[in-house]
Amino acid sequence: MAKMPETTFADLSLADKTSVKKSNLEARRFSDVSTCSFSSGSSDEDEASPKDITQRNSNGSSDFCVKNIGKAGFGRREIEIAEQEMPGIMTLRKRAMEDKPLKNANIVGCTHVNAQTAVLIETLQKLGASVRWAACNIYSTQNAVAAALAEAGVPIYAWRGETEEEFWWCLDKCIHSEGWQPNMILDDGGDATHLMLKKYPDYFKSIKGIVEESLTGVHRLYQMSKAGKLTVPAINVNDSVTKNKFDTYYTCRDSILDSLKRTTDIMFGGKQVVVCGYGDVGKGCAQALRGQGCIVYITEVDPICALQAAMDGYRVVRLPEVIRNVDVVVTATGNKNVVTRDHMNRMKNGCIVCNMGHSCSEIDVSSLHTPELIWERVRSQVDHIIWPDGKMIILLAEGRLVNLSCSTISSFVVSVASSTQALALIELYSAPGRYKSDVYLLPKKMDEYVASLHLATFDAHLTELTDAQAKFLGLSKAGPFKANYYRY
Ligand SMILES: NC(=O)c1ccc[n+]([C@@H]2O[C@H](COP(=O)([O-])OP(=O)(O)OC[C@H]3O[C@@H](n4cnc5c(N)ncnc54)[C@H](O)[C@@H]3O)[C@@H](O)[C@H]2O)c1
Repeated sequence: MAKMPETTFADLSLADKTSVKKSNLEARRFSDVSTCSFSSGSSDEDEASPKDITQRNSNGSSDFCVKNIGKAGFGRREIEIAEQEMPGIMTLRKRAMEDKPLKNANIVGCTHVNAQTAVLIETLQKLGASVRWAACNIYSTQNAVAAALAEAGVPIYAWRGETEEEFWWCLDKCIHSEGWQPNMILDDGGDATHLMLKKYPDYFKSIKGIVEESLTGVHRLYQMSKAGKLTVPAINVNDSVTKNKFDTYYTCRDSILDSLKRTTDIMFGGKQVVVCGYGDVGKGCAQALRGQGCIVYITEVDPICALQAAMDGYRVVRLPEVIRNVDVVVTATGNKNVVTRDHMNRMKNGCIVCNMGHSCSEIDVSSLHTPELIWERVRSQVDHIIWPDGKMIILLAEGRLVNLSCSTISSFVVSVASSTQALALIELYSAPGRYKSDVYLLPKKMDEYVASLHLATFDAHLTELTDAQAKFLGLSKAGPFKANYYRY
């Protein structure tokens, strides 16, 4: 990891940002997390590829490729709804609109295309950037939202259900355009960076920086850096504290209940649940389930996390001890074969089994594909697996991440991630020379700033350090308030 240079955009104190910037500013928001949100634009499926049809927006521009420009009105409403729940990025938009910190920035973006990212895209434009945008996932685009962006003049090349060939075509249209050359990349998975390196390596001469959102993309950047192939600075936003904490603990705390409810209509009160793994994901799940009146057991391999669970008031058990009695099993370990066929043989009738961890190997689903077991698809993402004696277990999302398969990610969480991305872009764009060709974490002060942007929503008021207190702690009154190794 490269060391951060001393002064950064965030060196302005939070107080400064709200006072200095107020005068300027008042005058002026998942892995490879696949935040697939299919809430709109799903009825406009037809056979012709958008690539083969020329559409125009009301201004006559055809520099976009979406499923159906006629759905722009629906998409605009989706964007407006998202804006309501994205206070941080909207505040950033308002505060920095006059300054235009991204003036003359030409950003090529490759992210999920949904209502929440539309709020980010339009914010970047309001901060002065010119953007061209493609989807990072062939299934996650909200077609109506893409149409709304196209109608608003954004050169967007994205629709749900692109083929792989169409995916690369869309990305190419964004990177390479007559009379426009990118100088910044906002990537989610590393594909824009990868294509540019492969097809347009010369463009890197004018690239000022890459901002990468996903674990996979960040991994690729570190590999490039190690191999000496990274020729521009990059910021890893995946590992910034705010993004990380919100994407794991809070998102999972919110979405485990929603996922279980939507798929099974379960009443939580009094149910016995075992959560395997007590990291951030497990902690969020356990807290939410207990809050609804469930009796929660935890399994852990790490004594520190096990002690945390015990002191949080959970029974820490081995899975075989409780497997006959529990109503729900949630895996959250990132490990493999945590729930085995033997465990599933012993589960009681009606037991719900689901996975919140990244890998789909936590539950040994393949062991359930044997001739004596009957699989019955009862709802989308819900399978009943029936044993010869009539016992049935309920498997959700075939053992894949249940919340990403059966629930949605809240706009508020995306607001945090988007604010982080926008600030990282501003940082790299406005501080040329400050960063070398390496991968950096977002400066701590910016992480703190992102959090501060979201506090007003809760009418939360920060306590200010007195001069004497700041001196006592050896801190600047304006932060950063914690060392980089602090774990929150
Ligand atoms: N569903 C989501 O939205 C979402 C969000 C973020 C992360 N994730 C994924 O969830 C998984 C967990 O993430 P995390 O941040 O909590 O990780 P973590 O490493 O902090 O926690 C996982 C815990 O599981 C424990 N563990 C490992 N093997 C075990 C076993 N066999 N039995 C019991 N416990 C075991 C580990 O000791 C650890 O404490 C990862 O795969 C991560 O990628 C999912």
